[in-house]
Amino acid sequence: MLNILVCGIGGKMGGNIVDLLKDDKDAQVVCGVDIHAPEGCKVPVYSSFEGVKEKIDAIIDFSSPAVLDGELEYAIKNRVPVVLATTGYTPDQLEKIKAASQKTAVFKTANFSLGVNLLVGLVKKAAKVLGEDFDIEIIERHHNQKVDAPSGTALMLAEAANDVLTEKRQYVEGRSGIVGKRGNEIGIHAVRGGTIVGEHEVMFAGEDEIVSLSHSARSKRVFAAGAIKAAKWIAGKTQGMYDMNDVLGAIL
Ligand SMILES: NC(=O)c1ccc[n+]([C@@H]2O[C@H](COP(=O)([O-])OP(=O)(O)OC[C@H]3O[C@@H](n4cnc5c(N)ncnc54)[C@H](O)[C@@H]3O)[C@@H](O)[C@H]2O)c1
Repeated sequence: MLNILVCGIGGKMGGNIVDLLKDDKDAQVVCGVDIHAPEGCKVPVYSSFEGVKEKIDAIIDFSSPAVLDGELEYAIKNRVPVVLATTGYTPDQLEKIKAASQKTAVFKTANFSLGVNLLVGLVKKAAKVLGEDFDIEIIERHHNQKVDAPSGTALMLAEAANDVLTEKRQYVEGRSGIVGKRGNEIGIHAVRGGTIVGEHEVMFAGEDEIVSLSHSARSKRVFAAGAIKAAKWIAGKTQGMYDMNDVLGAIL
């Protein structure tokens, strides 16, 4: 049985992980880290990683970039693999995560759904075929509680397209004012409202035709299930940086 620590256990995603692991045969939640302990939680919840006493096989983190330093310190010191689902890391933090992956195993993706990871593959394919002649715009929609914009997934999709283009494009977020004609860019637009779980559309707009690829998440459970799959996969690994392609194999 794998022992899982859930960082952000008091949040919406943390709650989904706890729910899904209740009946799991291979993994169980043994404790959590959160600045707000959830009511009625059946496992110990610590306000920081310093307090953790349990033996942990993998960390699943759906919390905030603010917890990163203490978390990586703990993971490296105790050689615990960590699944980072949190989004909104700064470029400095992304460097720290990369450096940490030489000392402990790190699994990081902005989106744990199978469908979005398929979308990434489809976007690469479309960008290869259409990219040089078509304008690329990404529109993402999320609930009104989301704190970062654009979404980590929108940036992941932009990177997927840019990766295969010969001439790399700049990202332009949410145009406003007299911005002039469109340049060599990928436009990224964030819509926020209500309880939208997460929607992403990548539009390739050419002369007289448009190709749109999109994904819509209908519940947060898809992300929780993906993160649990990743935790089971990474448990026991001692170092390296991994993402969903390592779990799913090359999709396209
Ligand atoms: N990768 C994915 O597939 C995916 C899917 C959904 C959400 N997310 C990301 O996961 C994160 C959490 O999402 P959510 O909807 O559960 O948010 P949420 O606000 O419901 O929960 C976040 C939890 O983290 C806790 N927290 C905040 N700062 C902390 C700190 N310094 N130390 C310890 N705990 C802290 C909060 O108290 C809260 O309980 C966000 O960054 C979101 O974008 C990623």
